Amino acid sequence: MSPEFDRRAFRDLSYGLYIVTSLDGDRLNGQIVNTVIQVTSDPARVAVILNNQNLTHKFISKSGLFGVSVLDESAPMTFMGLFGFRSGRDVDKLSQVEFKMGVTGCPLVLEHALSVLEAKVIDRIDLGTHTIFIGDTVNAEVLKEGRPLTYRYYQESLKGKAPATAPTYNPVK
Ligand SMILES: Cc1cc2nc3c(=O)[nH]c(=O)nc-3n(C[C@H](O)[C@H](O)[C@H](O)COP(=O)(O)O)c2cc1C
Repeated sequence: MSPEFDRRAFRDLSYGLYIVTSLDGDRLNGQIVNTVIQVTSDPARVAVILNNQNLTHKFISKSGLFGVSVLDESAPMTFMGLFGFRSGRDVDKLSQVEFKMGVTGCPLVLEHALSVLEAKVIDRIDLGTHTIFIGDTVNAEVLKEGRPLTYRYYQESLKGKAPATAPTYNPVK
């Protein structure tokens, strides 16, 4: 890593926070990401970026499907901790929250969610540590009005941190 650039500049990038879900047969899982973006309008495509070690990455790779819940500011730290710091390899996260099954079979987390999306993967880019999955949106629903949870709100008001698996993890304090 070049010492010539100032990593603090990355902190000025803005993000929302989301739960991305997927499935493997009847096993369901999901994780927090800050990396959901709409990448094209017509067709409406979205991209998500997942660490290659995560169980959700394995499920999306296998099923070619993912669901997204757009979180709001009501999400408490216990909820963020369950989905953002624990792996589905050790805990059944979906058994602990309210969700519904989407048209793709992906679970859609309803708690602390403003909207939900579902997508079918059409392409992927392996970045070594992380993969960008790009998907065609096949379902999109607004659940309620509210204020989307941003990374800044999570850090400043909830005093939340990012684990080393997050793309935004910054080893420099
Ligand atoms: C605020 C926050 C943002 C995160 N962003 C991402 C992300 O964009 N991509 C990613 O792969 N992991 C991200 N993570 C980490 C995953 O949520 C975490 O590694 C999770 O435990 C993986 O679960 P799994 O193994 O069940 O899939 C983030 C975590 C937090 C708390």
